[in-house]
Amino acid sequence: EQDPLVIFTPSGKRGRFPAGTPVLHAARSLGVDLDSVCGGRGICSKCQITPSYGDFSKHGVTVHDDALSEWNKVEQRYEDKRGLKPGRRLGCQAQILRDVVIDVPAESQVHKQVIRKRADTRAIVMDPATRLYFVEVLEPDMHEPSGDFERIAAALADQWKINGLIADLSMMAKLQPVLRKGKWQVTLAVHHDHTGAAPRLVEIWPGLHESGLYGLAIDLGSTTIAAHLTDLETGEVKAASGLMNPQIRFGEDLMSRVSYVMMNPGGDREMTRAVREALSQLAMELAAEADISPDLIVEAVVVCNPVMHHLFLGIDPVELGQAPFALATSSSMSLAMAELDITSINPRARGYILPCIAGHVGADAAAVALSEAPEKSEDLVLIIDVGTNAEILLGNTTRVLACSSPTGPAFEGAQISSGQRAAPGAIERVEIDPDTKEPRFRVIGSDIWSDDPAFAEAVGASGITGICGSGIIEAVAEMRMAGILDASGLIGSASQTGTPRCIAEGRTHSYVLHDATADNGPLISVTQGDIRAIQLAKSALYAGARLLMDEMGVDKVDRIVLAGAFGAHISSKHAMVLGMIPDAPLNKVSSAGNAAGTGARIALCNIAARKAIEANVSKITKVETAIAPAFQEHFVSANAIPHATAPFPELAR
Ligand code: FES
Repeated sequence: EQDPLVIFTPSGKRGRFPAGTPVLHAARSLGVDLDSVCGGRGICSKCQITPSYGDFSKHGVTVHDDALSEWNKVEQRYEDKRGLKPGRRLGCQAQILRDVVIDVPAESQVHKQVIRKRADTRAIVMDPATRLYFVEVLEPDMHEPSGDFERIAAALADQWKINGLIADLSMMAKLQPVLRKGKWQVTLAVHHDHTGAAPRLVEIWPGLHESGLYGLAIDLGSTTIAAHLTDLETGEVKAASGLMNPQIRFGEDLMSRVSYVMMNPGGDREMTRAVREALSQLAMELAAEADISPDLIVEAVVVCNPVMHHLFLGIDPVELGQAPFALATSSSMSLAMAELDITSINPRARGYILPCIAGHVGADAAAVALSEAPEKSEDLVLIIDVGTNAEILLGNTTRVLACSSPTGPAFEGAQISSGQRAAPGAIERVEIDPDTKEPRFRVIGSDIWSDDPAFAEAVGASGITGICGSGIIEAVAEMRMAGILDASGLIGSASQTGTPRCIAEGRTHSYVLHDATADNGPLISVTQGDIRAIQLAKSALYAGARLLMDEMGVDKVDRIVLAGAFGAHISSKHAMVLGMIPDAPLNKVSSAGNAAGTGARIALCNIAARKAIEANVSKITKVETAIAPAFQEHFVSANAIPHATAPFPELAR
């Protein structure tokens, strides 16, 4: 008689095994993705499966009630103590007795897919660098002397086939009490480097560790630092937050920070210290928000532009201030976060810094490429990551070009009179009635519009704090559409525009978006200076995009993806009215949120992605904006709203 047949779903993998084979064993032999931290000891419950009973004609089997063994003591004990969902079994305990169809639920898969918010992007497949392993370690024996660490390494090799474990000094100092507390049963967090370096022990806990493992995906922007605290087992984002980059006090944009270093000996070290302290602080806040111990953060992935890259790593950025813009290193880096003085998280946490594309196109552009994958796009896609330094990519399966453009911090709310970083209370959506010229808006943290009677109670005058990047883009575009602003970017007077909201300020005018001064709230207006800052920023963006299009030899693109670390998604319509982006059908312009941050999250969750981006970066063609005469030309004519000469036929539709 043949051995029982086992069919796994959803993988469809099948094979025959002698009666009595544990399901976990069969899964392993067939290469079915079934998780286990305890190595089959019936304590971690990661191996849960659901047997299906009945007639499976499409698989050619009938599954009887007794296809799996009865519950054994270990499984029963687990059920009594912790409970299993109805129909679930522990894969390491249940044995195959007859033909059976076994479903592996998503949460029991190591390589589970994390669905990203947008339907048009690929899911992130979990394959993190740091994993948990439960091991039983041999007790010390006077007659066979060996170190506790060596016996841990031997247990990992024997029980998990992972050889060559290494550990830092601080780990060695921690081993002995933990081993004894756990009665020689411990859980190890082991970091696997994608370059093939030896696996490294980063943490150890007595017994089975069940409080999870976490990582940080960090987008270190010139103006804003954004981070996502991510569960390294499920890929779930547990907390996300951002803060202003404290280096702003040394210079608003990158070049002014480089000049600060040139003029102030030791200035680079001041800036390095500032950004590292901010990051430590942010990590602590995120851990508190997610209600986890910061010690459980064992990894971080950082993406940033070249100047931030150098300043964060403690490298003098002066070479990046002038042609030929030489980087100290363009390669990715794997290092200990403690080397970077990020001390608020696990002291042995590992860091991965994405590679830079060139001296002026950084790891943030590489992260955008990882998130948006232009090299896999059949149609020609223009990807613009809006920030103080905008990252711009243009390409398809044949070729990908990249540049960065110095937009300045206006789109992130800096240099704007009422500007602020995207945080609760910031105006993020604006509409202006073209007839009455009256505005309505929404603030971050509430979905009620300001003209709704419920707004006063929900948000109130004091709940409005300023205007963020996406808010200012919408405000300026709406002002243009309502005729408050002319094509040259001039705000009209009250008599010209017919609204008392246009008030004179010296020789120019401002448009009052919100005046709650009577209720002790803020006066939020868009000033002529704000408009000029936005014009400069948007001209730089547009010019960068055009430069890549010139290089590619095209005068239009098939689709546009707008990304930005700040605020809500950028409104495509408003971006086009403003002339931030070249003309394209509006339904071909999408908004991707923080693409660089998403790229960091992908690299955090999947080590294969690190290899992929390293290979990809070398194939991207870099285009230099600073020395291209055409950039200046494009920049000047892009100053008008939407543009002095370029037609925007799609806007007329
Ligand atoms: Fe841990 Fe089954 S593998 S409970």
